[in-house]
Amino acid sequence: MFSSCYKMKPSVVSTLSFSLFFLSQFLLSLSERCNPDDKKALLEIKRGLGNPYDLITWDPKTDCCTDWVKATLSCDEKTNRVTVLNLFQINSPGHLSPAVGDLSYLQTLDINNVRNLSGPIPPTIAKLLKLTFLRISQTNISGPVPEFLTHLKNITYINLSYNNLVGTIPPSLSQLPNLEFLRLDRNKVTGTIPESLSNLAPKLTYLYLGHNQLTGIVPNSFAGWSFDTIDLSRNMLEGDISFLFGKDKTTFEMLLDHNKFNFDFSKLTFGNRLARLDLNHNKIYGSLPTILTKQSWQLFNVSYNSLCGKIPQGGSMQRFDQYSYFHNKCLCDAPLPPCK
Ligand SMILES: *[C@@H]1O[C@H](CO)[C@@H](O)[C@H](O)[C@H]1NC(C)=O
Ligand SMILES: *[C@@H]1O[C@H](CO)[C@@H](O)[C@H](O)[C@H]1NC(C)=O
Ligand SMILES: *[C@@H]1O[C@H](CO)[C@@H](O)[C@H](O)[C@H]1NC(C)=O
Ligand SMILES: *[C@@H]1O[C@H](CO)[C@@H](O)[C@H](O)[C@H]1NC(C)=O
Ligand SMILES: *[C@@H]1O[C@H](CO)[C@@H](O)[C@H](O)[C@H]1NC(C)=O
Repeated sequence: MFSSCYKMKPSVVSTLSFSLFFLSQFLLSLSERCNPDDKKALLEIKRGLGNPYDLITWDPKTDCCTDWVKATLSCDEKTNRVTVLNLFQINSPGHLSPAVGDLSYLQTLDINNVRNLSGPIPPTIAKLLKLTFLRISQTNISGPVPEFLTHLKNITYINLSYNNLVGTIPPSLSQLPNLEFLRLDRNKVTGTIPESLSNLAPKLTYLYLGHNQLTGIVPNSFAGWSFDTIDLSRNMLEGDISFLFGKDKTTFEMLLDHNKFNFDFSKLTFGNRLARLDLNHNKIYGSLPTILTKQSWQLFNVSYNSLCGKIPQGGSMQRFDQYSYFHNKCLCDAPLPPCK
């Protein structure tokens, strides 16, 4: 062992360790992992956010890859470039700096619950060609749903829910070949659903457009598409959407409530996987077919429509209380009162 080979006087040891301390500090500054361009962009982002206390560790004198709070960013082990930026629950008022577009190695941009973040989504985000995950959610971000997202060809996940986005859905979003997940719900988006969106099928299976101000019909091009979840709830959509249903569909969840959909329910058929169906507050007519008893419903709500006739008995149809069926033209039998 070294300790038995080298026996030094205490004074020599302390001088040596003193010099070693400075040497190591010097080497550390030379070996800082953080890329200077990344550090510059990150400090700009911090400034845009109003230098919040939550980012107190973002100190220009320390290494962003090793010293800044791990929950907010991470660097690639090999390249030392910032690949993940994660900002959440920051309260200071601010905006998202265009410098975010200079984090050229970014793969994940996740901004969630930054309530006082205002202004538009900076167009420089279009430069982040390695981006696969984009969430800007629960902020005060406004302006249009960005057309420039169409440049992010590797993106698989976009979640822009719970903001103040306005304008229409850019048809060019359909040109994202790897997109699996799109959430634009709970904004102030207007206009019609672009027909081209169905080009995202079959890869995209999570589509959330609910709680906006969308009008018009659901494009017929959606007929061949199955979803894990489709959420069109609380818009002003209208027309016949029976083509979203069918035996061949693998859709699991359909949230279509609070619109003006108008079609005959008695003619529908259902895919095996369909377990969650919310159609309350529409203009649906006809009766409830007995094949409904074959599905394992976790959610079934047809209240506030114009349905008529006997509620099929059996299966999971009576798992729900009267509030899933009430306010129709003349539905009857359990859980509603018996038919006359
Ligand atoms: C937003 O900013 C206002 C004033 O600057 C502040 O009072 C409020 O607490 C902030 N909101 C949140 C959710 O942090
Ligand atoms: C939200 O943004 C609007 C401008 O789009 C601004 O007037 C308002 O003060 C912002 N609110 C908060 C809480 O930041
Ligand atoms: C996009 O993804 C592919 C496959 O993973 C990869 O080869 C390519 O380098 C990525 N493009 C960019 C710009 O990162
Ligand atoms: C999208 O963002 C919202 C709000 O932050 C969050 O509740 C939701 O879970 C996200 N969606 C998914 C499935 O990641
Ligand atoms: C069904 O919708 C009605 C009307 O919005 C609502 O009152 C009721 O709670 C819902 N029931 C279930 C089980 O979701």
